[in-house]
Parts: sequence; C-alpha cells; structure tokens
Amino acid sequence: MGGRPAKSEYADHWGLDPEITFLNHGSFGACPTAVLEYQTELRKRLESEPVRFFEHECVPLWQEALDSISEFLNADPDGMTFQNNATGGVNAVLRSLQFEPGDEIIVPDHSYQACWNAIDHVARRWGAKIVVVEIPFRLEDEDQVVELILQAVTSRTKLALIDTVTSPTGMRLPYEVLVNELQSRGVDVLLDAAHGAGIVPLDLSSLDAAYVAGNCHKWLCTPKGSAYLHIREDKKAEIKPISISHGYSADLPTQEKFRFEFDWPGTQDPSPWLCIPYAIKYLDGMVNGGWPAILERNRNLALYGRDLMCEALGAEPPTPDSMVASLAAVEISADPEINDPNNRLDPLHISLFDDYGIQIPVWPWPHHNTRYIRLSAALYNGEEEYQYLADALRESL
Ligand SMILES: Cc1ncc(COP(=O)(O)O)c(C=O)c1O
Repeated sequence: MGGRPAKSEYADHWGLDPEITFLNHGSFGACPTAVLEYQTELRKRLESEPVRFFEHECVPLWQEALDSISEFLNADPDGMTFQNNATGGVNAVLRSLQFEPGDEIIVPDHSYQACWNAIDHVARRWGAKIVVVEIPFRLEDEDQVVELILQAVTSRTKLALIDTVTSPTGMRLPYEVLVNELQSRGVDVLLDAAHGAGIVPLDLSSLDAAYVAGNCHKWLCTPKGSAYLHIREDKKAEIKPISISHGYSADLPTQEKFRFEFDWPGTQDPSPWLCIPYAIKYLDGMVNGGWPAILERNRNLALYGRDLMCEALGAEPPTPDSMVASLAAVEISADPEINDPNNRLDPLHISLFDDYGIQIPVWPWPHHNTRYIRLSAALYNGEEEYQYLADALRESL
C-alpha cells in the first residue's frame, strides 16, 4: 500500500497526527486548534486573578454558554445544566430518582456499558427490575426497534434509557418516535445523547424527553470535559447534581437554587463549557451551509466508508441508511477467544494501528456474542482514508 491517505480539506483546523488515519472521532472527539487556543486564553484570564474571574468574569460567560447550547438544541435554558461528561449526567438523574421494589427500567442491549452499569447500581439499591431489550444488529427498518422496545413496557415500567446513536453498534435509533411513544405510555425517557449534538438533529423542546444527557466534547468538538444534562421543568425538583455543594442549603427562589446547585458543584475548571459558543460558531463557519451541511457531509462520508468496509469484509450493510449518522459499524466474527471482554484491546485493532497507522475501534460486544468494527466520519476525514481502511482490512483478514 502506498503513502498516507489524504485527510479532508478541513483537516488543517485540527492538530491531528498526520501519520495516523484517525477514524475514531466517536470515542473522545477531537478539538480544533483554534478552540484549544481560545481555551488557553480563558485559562490565562482565570489564573491571572482567580477570584475576580469566578466572582465576575465567569458569570456572563457561563450564561452565554448555557444560552448557546440551549439555542443549538432548541432547549429551555432554565433546565440546562453543565456536566463533565454524559456519564455524569446519566448518573445525576439515576442517583436522584426513587424507585419502588419491582419497578421496571428498560435498557436496550446496545446501550453504553457505563450507563447500563449506573442503572444496574441503582436498580440493585431500590430492588427495581432491569428489562433488557434484545435488539438484533441486522435490521430491515427502524420500526423493528420501536416494536421491540414498546413490547417491553408493562404497568411497572418507570424509565427507559434510549440512545440517540448507539455506541458499540453506531446505530442511529428512531429516538424521536421512541421518546414520544414511551412517554405517552407513562414511561419517562432518559435520552443518552452522548452522540447527539453535532451528529443528529436534536430539538429538545419538540422531543420533550424528561432527561437528556449529552456531550459537547464529541461532535461539537469542544475541549474534553464539556457535556450537559437537560432536565424537563416538571422533573427539576427531583434531580440533584452528583456533587451536593453550597447550593443545597441556600435559601433562594426555586430557579436560582436549581442554578446554584448545578452551577457550583465545587471548584473546577469552567473553560471546557465556556468554549461551547466559540466551538459552535467556529465549526459553523468552517463549512458552507453551517451545521446542517456538516451533519449531512459526515453522514454521507460514514455511508461511503461503511459500504467500502462491508465490501472488504464480504458483508451486507447491517441496517438501512436511515440508521446511519456519522458512525457506522459492521460485525466481524464471534471468535470466543478474541470475544473475551477482559481482552481489552482486540488484536485487529492493534494490528490496524501498528501495521497501517489506522485508529479505529474493534471491540467485543458480549451481549451479541460478536465483535464490531466501528468507523467515524468527522470533518477532517476524507474519502481516501476509508479506501485505505478497506484495503487494510482485505490484507489483514
Ligand atoms: C452512547 C454513549 N453514552 C455515553 C457515553 C459516555 O460518554 P462520556 O465518556 O463522555 O461520559 C458514550 C461514550 O462514547 C457513548 O457512546
């Protein structure tokens, strides 16, 4: 195989290693250089006079960041809170809720294991029952997902964890229909939108999910440690931040107390959140047509990459195109030795990196007794990179 495959015309905005074909934006995102420079400026301002910064300068910047992410997601800013990551947002909700023994919580078996673990922990504590919904990887259409999840609802179902885009299998779920159907049956939805903002169109006001936990540090390309939890108005009294801090004892009107409790969990670096408005505008200005064009471009590139990957693996595309956003996965094999969940790094993942300089996840998913290879399509990726991946797969397997 020849030289390194070309990244896209946008790649210079990122400081990614030119020797690596980076096809895993999905795991931790990647932040453009200009956004990191903006963060450095903010940190310098903070450290030049920390008290002045926290008492005065941070306040309007924080509000601007809350307004910016709320506007991007068409969400009520009064229910918007910042979190370090989506896992933290999911935990804040689950660890605040009270369940009766025998109450049921729905978890589809494509759910992110960390969030599933949080449900296991809470269910064990309250004696609640976890109802795992098995969803095949190969699907004819998304209605199958809706049917399977709705079939699991009983009179005891209190909550469902629903992904916008699943992590191990990179499937864009019909979350709009699911939120609506579940909530109309009296089941609150905790939407895991870790892959949400910047990868699928999200309109939180129309969705009206009880809780939405999402990341900015993945597809909005903000610095690491910037995420949000949106809590619907009628649920705000029930949900506390994971870190109980000064706000808890503050004698304030309800909304001010809510803000104080979530906005001050203790001293922390606020710069990842304060970069949200800058990052949203910066990426919007990078591509003609702004964010809608970014979503479309990345999705088309993911479909292009998925089809090449399928050809190389001799597989049919596993889902209809409508279930692909900027991530796409294909199953590889269920070799019991390499499907050991304790075997943290899959040999194919290692050899694609060591022999070809391709960074792409290959992971076992014991719930499906198989392994998946999952590609990402971000602005810095170019078509040649997926051709190179396909060639590498043909050679390796
Ligand atoms: C579906 C899903 N949920 C939650 C998370 C957790 O995100 P974080 O590590 O930022 O909390 C991820 C991370 O990849 C994910 O894919």
